[in-house]
Amino acid sequence: MSDDLKLKAAEAAIGEVKSGMRIGLGTGSTARHFVALVGARVAAGLDVICVPTSEATARQAESLNIPLTTLEDCPQLDLTVDGADEIGPGLALIKGAGGALLREKIVAAASLRMIVIADHSKHVPELGKFPLSVEVNHFGFGATERAIAAIMRQFGGEGGLRRRLLADGSPYVTDGGHGIVDAFFGRIPQPQALAEALNRVPGVVEHGLFIGLCQRAYVAGPAGVSVLDA
Ligand code: A5P
Repeated sequence: MSDDLKLKAAEAAIGEVKSGMRIGLGTGSTARHFVALVGARVAAGLDVICVPTSEATARQAESLNIPLTTLEDCPQLDLTVDGADEIGPGLALIKGAGGALLREKIVAAASLRMIVIADHSKHVPELGKFPLSVEVNHFGFGATERAIAAIMRQFGGEGGLRRRLLADGSPYVTDGGHGIVDAFFGRIPQPQALAEALNRVPGVVEHGLFIGLCQRAYVAGPAGVSVLDA
């Protein structure tokens, strides 16, 4: 059911894709549907060039013969389409459950427009129920975790911090070679101030709060797809 809704949201966003566009391809189970739809249109003659936001998305796009480039060769994109963990007021987002938040944010920031696609469970009145992923440099990991914990207390975080691990218990490593700490805030009433506080911690590479980056969301529910504009 939720996967059907993810597909519906992706189908709505594919209408935004025009020949000649430079497109950022998101990561995750919803973005995967969008990449598959782009692949089908490329096979039918659509002329686009794309930048993937993760190694996983790059592999999927390559398997579909979607032409790929990099932000070195193509530093500005027309459109990025990606999923989200939560979509809050003003289209502020939590992203990063898939571990690709750093590349996702770099690609979104390099795009003239970012569109998010999601099923309706992701649309929330306030961010924070979903854990906030924070990408952390391995050097000084413990000290950075401590600094993040202090910020959590300052912002009224209700839960704790958990270092992301793989199923075998080894630390999760992002495409950029960093670790991830998941912060269980419960509520994030001040996303902008929290984002700024996390940005000030030297060992924090990036965090999953995407503020002011997303212009539109296609949110699919049982009654159809809603269009939300920032
Ligand atoms: C990847 O790092 C994430 O930001 C995903 O875009 C986000 O977690 C949404 O994923 P799903 O579409 O799989 O829910």
